[in-house]
Amino acid sequence: MSRVPAFVEARRSIRAFTAAPVDRALLDGLVEAACAAPAPHHSRPWRWVVVDTDAGKQALADGMGARWRRDLEDDGVTRARIDELVGASRRKLTGAPALVLGCLTWDGLDRYPDEARQRAEWGMALLSLGAAVENLMLAAADAGLASCWVAAPIFCPAAARDALGLDTEWLPHALVLVGHPDPGYTGRPRPPVPLDELRAHR
Ligand SMILES: Cc1cc2nc3c(=O)[nH]c(=O)nc-3n(C[C@H](O)[C@H](O)[C@H](O)COP(=O)(O)O)c2cc1C
Repeated sequence: MSRVPAFVEARRSIRAFTAAPVDRALLDGLVEAACAAPAPHHSRPWRWVVVDTDAGKQALADGMGARWRRDLEDDGVTRARIDELVGASRRKLTGAPALVLGCLTWDGLDRYPDEARQRAEWGMALLSLGAAVENLMLAAADAGLASCWVAAPIFCPAAARDALGLDTEWLPHALVLVGHPDPGYTGRPRPPVPLDELRAHR
C-alpha cells in the first residue's frame, strides 16, 4: 500500500485541457501558494507571470521557439525534424488555457565575491523555485485543475523574458501549463518507488 499522502499522489502532469479559461482569481491563488514555499534566508527570489492571453502565449512560444530552432540547427538536426519539434512545442504552449511562468531574480539574494559561492546562492534560489512550482501544482490539483511543468525557459531565459517584454532582472526558469483537465485524458500510471535503490541509511 502506498505511503504517499493523497494530496501528493493527486498531482499528476496532465497535458490535455478543455477549452475553458481559468479564472484569474484561481490563478492568483496558485501563485500565492507558490509564494508560500521555503526560500533562502527569507528572500523571495521568484517572480511570476500569468500568461493567459492569446497574444502573450504566442509571443512566448515564438520567442522560445526561435531560440530552440537556432540551437537545433547548430546541432545539425534536419529542417523537417526541427519544424516538427518546434511546431509541437508551440501547439502545446498556445493550446493551454493559461501559462504560469516562474522567474528568478537576484533581488533579496546574497552576493559573493567568488564564483563558487555566487553559483551556490543561485542554486539555492533555483531549488526554492522548484519548491514553489511544486506548491503551485499541488494547489492546482487541490482546486481540480490540471497542470504540467514545461522545461523550455530554463534553456532560454533571456529569449522568454524578451518575448514578453519583462524587466531585465526577471529571468524565466520554469513554465507551468494550467487548465481544466480534459476528462478523456488518461495519464501513464505512476511507477512504484524503488525505495531500496533511491534511499540509503547511515
Ligand atoms: C524540471 C521539469 C521539467 C519538465 N519538463 C517537461 C516538459 O518539457 N514537457 C512535459 O510534458 N513534461 C515535463 N515535465 C513533467 C515530467 O515529465 C513529469 O513530472 C514526470 O513524467 C512524472 O510524472 P508526474 O508529474 O505525472 O508524476 C517536467 C518536470 C520537471 C520537474
